[in-house]
Amino acid sequence: MEFKEVMKKRRSTRRYTGQPVEKEKLVRAMELVLRAPSSKNTRSTRLMAVTDLKRAQKLGKLRDFGSSLLEEAGAAIIILGDEAASPMWQTNATIMASYLQLALVDEGLATCWVHVGDYRTLQDDPESQRSEDYVKELFPEIPEGYRVWSVIAVGYADYTPKPLPEYEGPERILIIE
Ligand SMILES: Cc1cc2nc3c(=O)[nH]c(=O)nc-3n(C[C@H](O)[C@H](O)[C@H](O)COP(=O)(O)O)c2cc1C
Repeated sequence: MEFKEVMKKRRSTRRYTGQPVEKEKLVRAMELVLRAPSSKNTRSTRLMAVTDLKRAQKLGKLRDFGSSLLEEAGAAIIILGDEAASPMWQTNATIMASYLQLALVDEGLATCWVHVGDYRTLQDDPESQRSEDYVKELFPEIPEGYRVWSVIAVGYADYTPKPLPEYEGPERILIIE
């Protein structure tokens, strides 16, 4: 797919057909985006793809809002960061996750970012389990010392999201000549 088409096609997709996603497509996209830049080349981000749908769907409960779409997705990719490797681990993880969403579009897949960060499982209960701990409990495979930054839902869209607006006017772009 042409780069510009990939950029225009990417939309956060929250309804999927439930069709499992082929491992090869995930691996191709993940291998491609390992080239993403990182602060001081610390390469602090790790990607963990989950194609076991029974386990991937449990990620839908990592929060009580904005994460249930993971229950319908065909796979999930957990974005991990090595806190000890870089004070910029969150920024590094964000950059790689963004690249990953584009690479997955190029594979004909749809995605949605589900944030973990400092969220808790229950939005209105500051004492509830941290979403990160919930994910770590589900996936003891997460290597020691890695933080969970977000989860990217991946799947086949069961609708065609509207394309983004072509041009949002001068308010978002300044040109100093
Ligand atoms: C840092 C970040 C966190 C996000 N967290 C969530 C989330 O937890 N759940 C969700 O459904 N969408 C989430 N999104 C998707 C945004 O809601 C979405 O990008 C925005 O509404 C614009 O829509 P678009 O991606 O289709 O252009 C997140 C996006 C970003 C960049």
